[in-house]
Amino acid sequence: MLSETSRIIRSVSDLSKSIDSFKKAGKSIALVPTMGALHEGHLSLIRLAKKNADVVVCTIFVNPTQFNDKKDLEKYPRTEEKDAELLNKEKCDIIFIPLMHEVYPVGHVPLKISYNGLDKVMEGDYRPGHFDGVVEVVARLFQMTRPDVACFGEKDFQQLAVIQELVAQHDFPILIIPGPIVREEHGLAMSSRNERLTAAQRSDASILYKTLNDMKKMAAFMNPDELASWGRDKISACECCELEYLEVAESHNLQPIYRWKETDSSRAFIVARFGEIRLIDNLQLLP
Ligand code: PAJ
Repeated sequence: MLSETSRIIRSVSDLSKSIDSFKKAGKSIALVPTMGALHEGHLSLIRLAKKNADVVVCTIFVNPTQFNDKKDLEKYPRTEEKDAELLNKEKCDIIFIPLMHEVYPVGHVPLKISYNGLDKVMEGDYRPGHFDGVVEVVARLFQMTRPDVACFGEKDFQQLAVIQELVAQHDFPILIIPGPIVREEHGLAMSSRNERLTAAQRSDASILYKTLNDMKKMAAFMNPDELASWGRDKISACECCELEYLEVAESHNLQPIYRWKETDSSRAFIVARFGEIRLIDNLQLLP
């Protein structure tokens, strides 16, 4: 019988026993990895997971190895009690909050992948070592939870592509299911970092989604690099933020594109800083 309230598990051996008993009963397992400070974006993945498996495991682990900025790690919000309440309401079956020494036991060797160029563009370029940390922790979460499916948000579209490589290159028998970006009222992509924005910054930050949408409308009239420059000019004209990058890229390998006919599907990707808060977003342009 699946539980009415979420069960919080902190040790790998308890998790393992629980997963074993579900598997023995023929239940499928869905994993939703998170770093906590949950919002509607995360909860949409829990609902997606519920539709695709019998048992949903949500992990909460603020993974130090993926933070290239130590200040960001220190300031990362930790809201375990509220997270548990939200997951309970969604009837998430298991909340796994592992301990550092079980995720990374002494002598642990991080799993590696070959990035096929994903480490050379956008997040790979601007956040050295970030994806090594993501691959390391997600591989461990896969090993510990042994899911049939795992749900990841399109908000971190490049992370999703890296996870697809991880699964393919290491033969994890796991179906990766992408979830669409959940947005606030004025279009800002939901993020745990939004809580750290001032009210004015939060309102200014809707320029990211607005620019992405305007780019989508303008895509019929410009080639990809003209479109990217047009978007960069729009963001740079606003004093509210500092643009880190804005790129138009192929959806499947995230490499830059120069002519529309070279691509089946393209997206625009943007990162900008509002004060010290770094915000990320993307939008499909074509088809
Ligand atoms: P975190 O930032 O907590 O995000 C957990 C999952 O929620 C990711 O798959 C992310 O893409 C998704 N997500 C976040 N905001 C979203 C939104 N507005 N709409 C839809 N999905 C959203 O991403 C991580 O944690 C970590 O890198 C992790 C994969 C857990 C590894 O440590």
